[in-house]
Amino acid sequence: MTLIHLGQVGELETAGVRPPRRKVVPVGDGLREGEVVVLRGPGGINVLVELRPGTTEIPGRGVVDLSGTIGQPAGTGLAWAGATYQVDRPVLSDFLAHLRRRAQIVTPKDAMYLLYLAGVGPGGRVAEAGSGSGALTTVLAYAVGDSGQVDSFERREDFLEVARQNVASAGLAGRVRFHRQDVVSDGLGAGPFDAILLDVPEPWEVLTNARSALRAGGRLATYTPTYNQLERTVRAMREHGFQDIRSLELIERELHVGDGGTRPAFDMLGHTGFLSGGRRGP
Ligand SMILES: C[S@@+](CC[C@H](N)C(=O)[O-])C[C@H]1O[C@@H](n2cnc3c(N)ncnc32)[C@H](O)[C@@H]1O
Repeated sequence: MTLIHLGQVGELETAGVRPPRRKVVPVGDGLREGEVVVLRGPGGINVLVELRPGTTEIPGRGVVDLSGTIGQPAGTGLAWAGATYQVDRPVLSDFLAHLRRRAQIVTPKDAMYLLYLAGVGPGGRVAEAGSGSGALTTVLAYAVGDSGQVDSFERREDFLEVARQNVASAGLAGRVRFHRQDVVSDGLGAGPFDAILLDVPEPWEVLTNARSALRAGGRLATYTPTYNQLERTVRAMREHGFQDIRSLELIERELHVGDGGTRPAFDMLGHTGFLSGGRRGP
């Protein structure tokens, strides 16, 4: 019998477990009309564009004709504007680098760990509030895959529009339903969701609604910028019967790598937010 040790989470017995069947894009598939591609150029230029026949205008960069790349393998070369570009399938970091920002976003380091705390994966039914700029929405939509679904709630129409556009630019609109809704007064719908992620100023005010929209055993993850908000959130999670609660902060330090001169970068991302996660009890 094989046991995977998962630290504080406990032990998961894997005997007899078969890998689930998942819908994936075969790696060798040619680039398809209608999909979003990234043009990687000299000097770190990355441009996201929908692949369609004929010319496409790239704001600030002119016009490009991608017709000849349809059906070609991902990573194929393209001569454009006096340089050679690579036409590739974008990855999550491309989507996040191209986000239009309105509200303060969840940074990639925090977003990735929120997925872990909330147990989000392929096929997941996930809700989040608020949508803000749609950074976390994009990460969630990417993680749940074609068979999953994200419901994203936001009380401000202007933020909702930005989030909607950002998710659409990533080609992930089909995985997300946006709702203009105040989750404190109007909740997150009936669910049941496998996971709920809260990035709103007062998560503790949402817990009654969040608990009733989560399936038993479903996971909640919260993102709060101050200790005061974190403390109120965790106290409320305990009062609402959440279990296995843990809280943490992630510190990211970039390294400058040079021959014989490798050291931490001088600039460092300071404080971002505190993360908490827990599981809905019976
Ligand atoms: C920090 S932003 C979220 C950023 C987002 N997670 C991202 O990564 O782009 C917080 C958002 O929560 C929204 N919000 C605050 N209270 C809310 C509520 N009660 N119901 C719905 N949305 C709310 C705000 O309008 C704001 O857009």
